Amino acid sequence: MYFLHGSSRINERGHLEIGGCDTTELAKQYGTPLYIMDEAYIRQKMRSYVQAFQKERLAFRVAYASKAFSTMAMCRIADEEGLMLDVVSEGEIYTALEAGFPAERIYFHGNNKTPQELEFALDKGIYLFVVDNFDELHLLQHLSKEKGKTARVILRVTPGVEAHTHEYIQTGKEDSKFGFGLESGQALEGVRQALNCDHLELLGFHCHIGSQIFETEAFELTISKMSKFFQTCYERWGMITRIFNTGGGFGIRYEQGDTPKEPAEYVAVIAQAVRESMKDLPCLPEIWIEPGRSIVGEAGTTLYTVGTVKDVPNIRKYVAVDGGMTDNIRPALYQAKYEAILANRANEASSEVVTIAGKACEEGDILVWDVALPPVKQGDLLAISCTGAYNYSMASNYNRVRRPAVVFVQNGQADLVVERESLADLVSHDRIPARLAKKKVGLTI
Ligand code: LLP
Repeated sequence: MYFLHGSSRINERGHLEIGGCDTTELAKQYGTPLYIMDEAYIRQKMRSYVQAFQKERLAFRVAYASKAFSTMAMCRIADEEGLMLDVVSEGEIYTALEAGFPAERIYFHGNNKTPQELEFALDKGIYLFVVDNFDELHLLQHLSKEKGKTARVILRVTPGVEAHTHEYIQTGKEDSKFGFGLESGQALEGVRQALNCDHLELLGFHCHIGSQIFETEAFELTISKMSKFFQTCYERWGMITRIFNTGGGFGIRYEQGDTPKEPAEYVAVIAQAVRESMKDLPCLPEIWIEPGRSIVGEAGTTLYTVGTVKDVPNIRKYVAVDGGMTDNIRPALYQAKYEAILANRANEASSEVVTIAGKACEEGDILVWDVALPPVKQGDLLAISCTGAYNYSMASNYNRVRRPAVVFVQNGQADLVVERESLADLVSHDRIPARLAKKKVGLTI
C-alpha cells in the first residue's frame, strides 16, 4: 500500500500530486528520473524538533545532518529555519558556505578529516569540531596552534550501545571505526589529552548510535551511560560538560509496518532521560541533536518513466525504469524496502505484483521487489516514495548514467534546485593525454 507522505495526494485527474504540483507535469517539464522534494514537509519536520525542545524547556540546538541530502537550496532552508549544520567533508562545508550558511552554525564530523579539510574549516571559522580519535586531536591542536587559534571541540564517544538497525548503519557499538570507546577507557584518556591541548577548548561530547532507529531504549541507555561518564570527568578534572550531542538516527516510515515515533516523542524521551540521569551534575549540558533522514527522507519522491517490461513466466514480471541503483543505491546496499505507485494512474486498482528493476548492468539493481500495481506499460510514470535521504547524496555515475535533477515543490510551485547532469558534464573532468590523442589519418597513396 502506497502511503501518501506530507503534502502528497491523488488529484482529480488521478495523478500523484506533491506540493500542489501534478507529477505528470513535473515529468514533462523536468524529465525523469526526477527527485521531487516537498519543501513544506521538510520545514515542518525541522520545526517539530525545535518546538518539541522549546516545550521541554531545555537548552538545545537542532542541527541538520547534511550528509542525508546536501545541496545549496537545502542549506538555505536549514539556515532560514535557524538550524545548525552537521557536515562531514570540505565539500559539505563549501556547499553550505556558498549558499550563505553562516560558518558559526556549522560543525564538523568525520573519522578521518584530512589536514587540508581541518585547515579549511579553521580558516572559514566554523563553530566546532567533533573530534573522533587521538590522531585527529593532536592534528587539530597542532594546526590550531600554527594558526594562532583555539578550536572548540567535543569528543565523539562510542557508548557501546547496539541499536536495532542494519549492521552497516549501526555505529554505537564498541567495535566501530568511529569515536573514542567508552568501555575501553579511550574516552577518558581522550578527555585527559584534550584538556592538555592548549589550543583546543573541550566543550562536551557526542554520541551517535546508528540510523533508522525506531525504539527509544537505545537513546535512554546511551544517555544514562554518558551521564556517569560526565560525572567522572567532573570528579577527575572539574570538567563541566557544556554540550551533549545525542546524534541523529530517528527512523522514518519507508513501508507499511515501519513504526517510527514522531519527532516530539524522540525529543521527550531524550529530555526525560537527560533530566533524570544528569540531575546530579553541576549543570545540565545543552542538548544537541542532528537528524538527517527524519528531516528529508519522507519529503522525497523519485519519479521514473517505465521502459521495458519483461515477464518471466510463472516466476516474476520485471518492470524496468529509467533510473535505479545510480539514483538509489539503498536497496542494493542495505536491502532497503520502498513503496511505489503509478503516478499517472494513481487511482487504478492494483492487479498484479511486479518487481521494479533499474537500468544498470547489475543483476542486483532492483529498486522494489514485489509491489502490487495496475497493469504497467511502457511510458507510465512510476513514483517511489521516501527517497529524500541518502539517495541524491549517494547517487553515482555508474554506467556513465547522468545524475537526475532535483526540484523543490510547494504551493503548486516547482523550483529546480539541482540541474540534471548533461552528457558534457560526464566527460568534463576527463583528459586525453597527448600520446592518446586521435591522430588525423591522411589518405596514403
Ligand atoms: N550524526 C552522525 C554522526 C551520523 O553518522 C549520522 C548518519 C547522522 C548524524 C544522521 O543520521 P540520520 O538521522 O540521518 O539517521 N547511508 C545510510 C545511512 C548512513 C548514516 C550515516 N550517519 C542509509 O542510507 O541508510
